[in-house]
Amino acid sequence: MPAVSATAPGKIILLGEHAVVYDRPAIAIPFNGVHAKVIVFATPIAPTSQVRIEAQAIGLDQTLDQLETDHPFAIAIRGVMAALGIDWLPACHIRISSTIPMAAGMGSSAAVSIALSRAMATFLGNPLEDAVINGIAFQVEQQLHGTPSGVDNTVISYDRPVYFIRKQPIEFLQVHQKFDLLVADSGIAAATGPMVTGVRQRREENTEQYDQSFTQIATLVNDARAQLESGSAANLGPLLTANHRLLQSIGVSIPELDTLVEASLNAGAFGAKLTGGGGGGNVIALVDEAHVAPVTTALLANGAHKTWLATVPRHEESAS
Ligand code: MEV
Repeated sequence: MPAVSATAPGKIILLGEHAVVYDRPAIAIPFNGVHAKVIVFATPIAPTSQVRIEAQAIGLDQTLDQLETDHPFAIAIRGVMAALGIDWLPACHIRISSTIPMAAGMGSSAAVSIALSRAMATFLGNPLEDAVINGIAFQVEQQLHGTPSGVDNTVISYDRPVYFIRKQPIEFLQVHQKFDLLVADSGIAAATGPMVTGVRQRREENTEQYDQSFTQIATLVNDARAQLESGSAANLGPLLTANHRLLQSIGVSIPELDTLVEASLNAGAFGAKLTGGGGGGNVIALVDEAHVAPVTTALLANGAHKTWLATVPRHEESAS
């Protein structure tokens, strides 16, 4: 069996994070500036069925049998085995790597599960459909985050912009005009699970106010959908900024992210917000071409460790 590989992109939530956990809509896009990659080699001279898993970035080099059964990699591999109806694996060596910053709101965990599931299924001679891969990745997200909405695994599995409501059929978005986003990493790690738990606890104390914020976020998401499908980036910008204000009100921003948002706006971005779970991670700033350079400079001068330019293509260019 030859070596096989699979990659999966990161993701950016344009609007709707956190509210999406409470059945409101979110809009998310794949982000190809970063990716997870998994290579699987057959190892015919290794002991029968020995599956070696190596992920240098987290210092992991173990066999599948040595991993706890609830380890994300074990869940993904056993999910593929269940989907294929097999209970035995040929000896192999799985190498996992990723350029997606961890605990940064970019979908690193979902991307790794998806690249791993795809690579294993292909290695076993039975590539799996996106919907099956998505289901496996959701199982991993549940193990990692407790009550994920499923938006991360969905946008990455299908690799297309989505309008997502938990437990509803997936709707793909047809972006009618290309637009540019700057993505800026604060360099502050914050795992999603505790951020979601924090919102849950605060909502228990103040349910009415939190539910009102979620509903206001839902309105912004629906307005943003209209702008993406037939409006303009200039009109989308203020919706992003308004979403950031509501994320501040539910306690998931931090001063470092607020500084990056304000710096982007002062430098001429149409709009800006944190993206993902918050508490750290990344902000996004919507810009026109003329403002890519000044906003990048402002982000780097105000604490961003790194920036990327993500060009979101119009639907025809992205459709395969
Ligand atoms: C994390 O990327 C997005 C959150 O809304 C959590 C979730 O949807 O599961 C914060």
